[in-house]
Amino acid sequence: MINILICGIRGKMGANLISLLENDAEAQAVCGIDKTSGMCGKTPVYASFNDVKERVDVIVDFSSPAVLKQETDWAVKHGCPVVLATTGYGEDDLKIIENCSKKIAVFKTANFSLGINLLVKLVKQAAAVLGEDFDIEIIEKHHNQKTDAPSGTALMLAESANSAFDNKKPLLYGREGAVGKRGNEIGLHAVRGGTIVGEHEVVFAGEDEVISVSHSAASKKVFAAGAIKAAKFIFGKPAGKYDMTDVLKNL
Ligand SMILES: NC(=O)c1ccc[n+]([C@@H]2O[C@H](COP(=O)([O-])OP(=O)(O)OC[C@H]3O[C@@H](n4cnc5c(N)ncnc54)[C@H](O)[C@@H]3O)[C@@H](O)[C@H]2O)c1
Repeated sequence: MINILICGIRGKMGANLISLLENDAEAQAVCGIDKTSGMCGKTPVYASFNDVKERVDVIVDFSSPAVLKQETDWAVKHGCPVVLATTGYGEDDLKIIENCSKKIAVFKTANFSLGINLLVKLVKQAAAVLGEDFDIEIIEKHHNQKTDAPSGTALMLAESANSAFDNKKPLLYGREGAVGKRGNEIGLHAVRGGTIVGEHEVVFAGEDEVISVSHSAASKKVFAAGAIKAAKFIFGKPAGKYDMTDVLKNL
């Protein structure tokens, strides 16, 4: 049985993970980290990694970038692999992630759904075929509780499209006022409202024709299931960086 620590256990994704792990034959939630300690159903919750008493095989993190330093220090000290699902990491956070991936296995992706990971591949292919003649715009929609924008997934899609142009296209976040004619940028636009789980559309607009590819998630369960798959995949793996492409190769 793989023992999982859920970081951000009291959140929406934490609840989804607990519910899926209750019926999992290979992995279980042994404890969690969140802002307040106590219990989350049958699972003990700690406000600090220093209080963790259980044997932890993998950390799964759906919380906030604020936890990252303490979490990775603890993970490196205990040789514990980490699955990072949290989005909104800044430059300094990415350096921390890079450094600790030299000592432990780190799995990071902004989106755990199989459909989105396929979309990422399709977008790169479409960008390569359509080339400079088509303008690329990405529209993402999420619920009104989301705290970062654009979504990590929108950035992943932008990077994928941009890789077809040697990453030379600038990213432009929204437009307002007398912005002038469009350049060769990739435009990103964030819509926030209600309870939208996650919608992403990549538009390729050419002369007299528009192609768009999109993905819509109806529930957060799909991300929790992907994160558990990642936790099982990363368990026992050597130090390094892993993502969904590694899991997909093994399916
Ligand atoms: N990679 C993916 O596929 C994917 C899918 C869904 C959500 N996410 C990301 O996961 C994160 C969490 O999403 P959510 O919808 O569960 O959010 P949420 O707000 O419902 O839950 C976050 C939880 O983390 C806890 N937390 C925040 N800061 C903390 C801190 N400093 N110390 C301890 N606990 C802390 C909060 O108290 C809360 O319980 C977000 O960054 C979101 O974008 C990623």
